[in-house]
Amino acid sequence: MIRSLNHVGLIVPSLEIGRAFYECAGLETRASGRDLVCRCEGRDQDQIRLIEGPKKRLAYVSFGTHAGGLSEVRARLEAADVEIGHAPVEVPFGGIWFKDPDGDWINVQEADDAPSTLPPPPEINAPQRYRRIGVRACDVTSSHKRARPRRLGHLIKFSPDVDRAVRFYSDVLGLLVSDRALDILAFMRSPFGGDHHMLGIAKSSHTGLHHLSFEVGDIDEIEMGAQHLLASGYKDGFGFGRHGAGSNYFHYVRDPWNSLIEYFWDIDVIPEGADWTPMGASEDEMRAVLEAVWSGTPAPKDFIMNFEEPD
Ligand SMILES: [Fe+2]
Repeated sequence: MIRSLNHVGLIVPSLEIGRAFYECAGLETRASGRDLVCRCEGRDQDQIRLIEGPKKRLAYVSFGTHAGGLSEVRARLEAADVEIGHAPVEVPFGGIWFKDPDGDWINVQEADDAPSTLPPPPEINAPQRYRRIGVRACDVTSSHKRARPRRLGHLIKFSPDVDRAVRFYSDVLGLLVSDRALDILAFMRSPFGGDHHMLGIAKSSHTGLHHLSFEVGDIDEIEMGAQHLLASGYKDGFGFGRHGAGSNYFHYVRDPWNSLIEYFWDIDVIPEGADWTPMGASEDEMRAVLEAVWSGTPAPKDFIMNFEEPD
């Protein structure tokens, strides 16, 4: 079964435009063959592979499984009559390749945990839980006023049939639904525990990438990252605010091709085997899944638009 989100492949018309954006967002980039890969500082795992092509689109999503997990994934795919194919693009890694019901290419490979070597963020002083004692939270002498993304936490991709996609990712690949709003939006997590969601599926007329989301060290880094991108000329997406589904604080900024990058912090974590009841059964819960708990400004009308062109 799937255990983790590994990285995402994107076809983009210009690697250099991609490099400029993701470096501005705080990621490190390096060439990999003809492609460009993006990583988080201090972490040994590719997070985005940019592949040059005629128009921007989601190329594939790569998930991780535990050692020995590939044979189980292969057996589940075969039992569901899912054809196992070959990588749709030239990549320097192996694993299993297949298409999900939306026609998006999925890769599953064995992947170990990739812990961050960055120092942990400052402790938080909350009422009745004062944990930063005798230490300043803010180092005003620091020149580092940028976001330092720690890891790719999740992606949300569009689907013309959310029900069908949820069935596939749960029945065949083992993901669990954390929260859901009918056939409009579903958040899915690893069955081995972890973030509230590593995959979100949102209704659209066709497939495409909505956003890639990176965990940062604290609230400050969400806004330092977003404000730096905006000051550099990139377009605001939505935020600052706090989500209902997953509870994370967020700010989204448009990438050069009108998908979004999200900075997040303080997401709900659900352990393996938890007795977790998804929201979405009532009108109020559905609104909580679809809307922010609060945000500085309302979500813009184009926030949920799919800007990828259909094939
Ligand atoms: Fe997100």
